[in-house]
Amino acid sequence: MNWNESSRRSFLKGLGAAGALAVTAAHSEARVAQGGAAGTEITPIEAQMAATRAQRMQWWHEAKFGMFIHWGLYSVIGQHEWSKEVEGIPLVQYEQVSHHFKPRPNAAREWAQLAKRAGQKYMVMTTKHHEGFCNWDSRLTDYNAMQQGPGRDLVREYVEAARAEGLRVGFYYSLMDWHHPDGARCKTDAAARRRFVDYTHGLIRELLTHYGKIDILWYDVDWPLTAAEWESERMNEMVFKLQPEIIVNNRNGLEGDFSTPEQEIRAAESGRAWESCMTLNDSWGFNRFDDAWKTPKTIVENLAKCAGGGGNYLLNIGPKPDGSVPEESVAVLETVGKWLGANGAAIYGTERGQYDGNPNANYTRRGNTLYIHQQFWPGHTPAAEWLPFFQPEAVIAIGGLKAKAKSARLLKSGQKIEFTQDEFALRLTGLPMEAPDQPATVIEVECDADPVIDHGAMRALWPRLQVGISQSNSGSRAGTS
Ligand code: GLC
Repeated sequence: MNWNESSRRSFLKGLGAAGALAVTAAHSEARVAQGGAAGTEITPIEAQMAATRAQRMQWWHEAKFGMFIHWGLYSVIGQHEWSKEVEGIPLVQYEQVSHHFKPRPNAAREWAQLAKRAGQKYMVMTTKHHEGFCNWDSRLTDYNAMQQGPGRDLVREYVEAARAEGLRVGFYYSLMDWHHPDGARCKTDAAARRRFVDYTHGLIRELLTHYGKIDILWYDVDWPLTAAEWESERMNEMVFKLQPEIIVNNRNGLEGDFSTPEQEIRAAESGRAWESCMTLNDSWGFNRFDDAWKTPKTIVENLAKCAGGGGNYLLNIGPKPDGSVPEESVAVLETVGKWLGANGAAIYGTERGQYDGNPNANYTRRGNTLYIHQQFWPGHTPAAEWLPFFQPEAVIAIGGLKAKAKSARLLKSGQKIEFTQDEFALRLTGLPMEAPDQPATVIEVECDADPVIDHGAMRALWPRLQVGISQSNSGSRAGTS
């Protein structure tokens, strides 16, 4: 899994519209290996996490695809989960919503069954979002699901539903809190900070104590405090004492186990785990009139891009106030799940690879096996009449594949595919004229080595002819006229 800086750059370049360039900070494994980068110290909890990371994260790396669930009082208003702040709703009014949040019992079963059908292997639910409302039976505040409208512990229902479908269980938890009286003044008032940090640690303790084994803790927004002010190291120490197998993200001001690019696909540097979280439309919480739904094609493509870069894809649903999932989300997820049913081998358990971008296809790999996810099928080109390269007409050609192909087949049907290969390209021939599968057709190619794809490196090696160059422009004639 060699992923050096220049190939990482070309992979990112290839991510196209969904991608964005960025370089992530040095991470703790590297720092531990170096005995701490200049000016920073490896804390005992960082060292403990680094030592157990590979083992704790193995299931997660294999899983690749998870379901994010944003559900809370904002779902009742149905205008995005930030509406309290964005619309400036006074707190005394917003609190009233808690009496009108009356979901039907066990709505989470529907989500878990949907996640299972979609081929998702884990779930992450908002236990408390920025609004401060606790979806569980908390003893530290009465602004919670048990004592307000729902009259039930929604987190417990969720945990049980996920386990019933054999899915891993994650808790999202927002450190930022728009409801707690100390949630903002904690920045400037030491006594308020003491109370609020104790409250925050206490809520996390409840979550990790009362619901059995929890697989992921997904912190969010650490405004307004620094990691030191949140006492985030002590927070993580408590988390790992209560749940030694858990994995945590990087949003409590510390690096945690994985990075969390949001609404974009951005691979972290080699060796660092990452997960892209993304909405299915443009909102996390239910938003009645947000109709900007992504297509199954986009989701399948994003999933392949994440897997190809060694990352995970956490895709969100925003259930309605009664707990039901918007029909548009259900339809997309079911289509993706059907595709994964036939093509899961090209996603689950795959490893980070090294590829140049291709506008028509994405790539994943497991060892020396390359999976070509062809999203735009070739053929119907007039060039087929004149160029032997396109004969027979439907040819999938991969320029710059460094390894030698040994065999190729359609993943879904197992049908063998003929091919030729020279030093510049692999040409898969004898393909049907129409795409055999949608939203992408996967072709599995067994290679003799790591299937690195680097067409950029071929550029200088292609034989260049004098074809079509007039004499006055020809380099070989320079200076003669
Ligand atoms: C942002 C948003 C929040 C959402 C989260 C998901 O932090 O503030 O609403 O829950 O992203 O990653």
